[in-house]
Amino acid sequence: MDSIVVVGGSPLGGTIEINGAKNAALPIQCAALLTDTPTTLRHVPLLSDVYTMSSLLEGLGCVVEGDRVMTIDPRGVASGALEAPYELVKTMRASVTVMGPLLARYGRARVSLPGGCAIGARPIDQHLRGFEALGADIKLERGYVELRAERLKGTTFAFDLVTVGGTQNVMMAATLAKGTTRLENVAREPEVEELARILNKMGARIHGAGSPVIEIEGVDNLAGVDHAILPDRIECGTFMVGAAITGSDITLRHAPVDDMHAVIEVMREAGVRFEVTPAGLRVIGPEALRPIDVTTRPHPGFPTDMQAQIMVMATMAHGQSLITETIFENRFMHVPELCRMGADIVVQGNAAVVRGPTHYSGAEVMATDLRASASLILAGLIAEGRTEVRRVYHLDRGYETIETRLQSIGADVQRYHGARG
Ligand code: UD1
Repeated sequence: MDSIVVVGGSPLGGTIEINGAKNAALPIQCAALLTDTPTTLRHVPLLSDVYTMSSLLEGLGCVVEGDRVMTIDPRGVASGALEAPYELVKTMRASVTVMGPLLARYGRARVSLPGGCAIGARPIDQHLRGFEALGADIKLERGYVELRAERLKGTTFAFDLVTVGGTQNVMMAATLAKGTTRLENVAREPEVEELARILNKMGARIHGAGSPVIEIEGVDNLAGVDHAILPDRIECGTFMVGAAITGSDITLRHAPVDDMHAVIEVMREAGVRFEVTPAGLRVIGPEALRPIDVTTRPHPGFPTDMQAQIMVMATMAHGQSLITETIFENRFMHVPELCRMGADIVVQGNAAVVRGPTHYSGAEVMATDLRASASLILAGLIAEGRTEVRRVYHLDRGYETIETRLQSIGADVQRYHGARG
């Protein structure tokens, strides 16, 4: 297993290019299943989650070629098993997003239930309720969900809670349904809008993506397209925190500024300066950071995927910050590791009280999930001495070659292959 070693204290400066968004790429890969002809995706991030999704699609009968520019040819799917096996779903929950496309296009799907994951129980009941409302017959058998439908029928369906994956899955299913579907209380994340954009290019008729209600007029078939994936707002936010805590001046090329208002606002309140320049978003960390009060919410609120990273920023502020997590029930696993490096963080229920500024000292720490890993790398950048982050396979799910990109702005970061687990 690889580990990443960060030696803290190097001043950062320069430009980093933001890659395509993981959370947009994954559902868009699934969307290729809805069509009869190949789809070409550009700006695909080279991440293990994207490769896992490609393996899943290949298992279903697709031919997937290329990486940064990826072509997915779904013409071999019809004769296949239409199954997402446990081995893949357990490594990546987003695998369940093939359900909607398979059900809509082929009338059946067999998908392993994902079970829990490190950050919480994460059920898929809302996805299934949505498919049922569209007329699917659903059976749970031996840990698998079996879905069947002749042709899905348009309906009105309201989600009990805001779910990104649920919205994407049910929206995709409805594109090929007979009649019009109205989905209420949907997720408004930019990645939902992006998926709607590509589906509309494929021939779907989706209105309202980005608002709380989406309407989908069903069509008979969809065709493959050529599409460039939007930049990753979470990757961008992670580098923004890097600039904030090191007091550096860095520029983020292709930063998706319009999708990041909540994060930029919190960081501005803390004293970070932003400038939109022709080269990208310039982020200037202050000499001293001010405390923050952040609550994670569905978009356009503060994203849960930035909670761990913003907590590192809070540990460097002069005073007491409060960070409340409302999306996932168990998303503070980075706290004990940050505390081992010197942070003063007390968790009370779903809130973390953070007292700063911290004088971090390097330590051996264990990554527990994707964004937690990023927070440990960030803490390593400002720690005295050497921080070794183990189990970086979590990091590789969502950050492409983070070590070389941080090196390019001056950080002392190295990857060691095959280190102890
Ligand atoms: C997506 C993102 C993930 C992000 C999350 C919240 C992808 C690939 N992943 O995950 O990075 O952290 O959105 O912004 O895009 N829930 C239910 N029942 C359901 C579905 C969800 O109770 O049927 C709950 C979940 O347990 C969680 C909350 O709803 O507490 C939000 O989950 P959801 O928005 O579905 O997250 P994902 O789509 O899995």
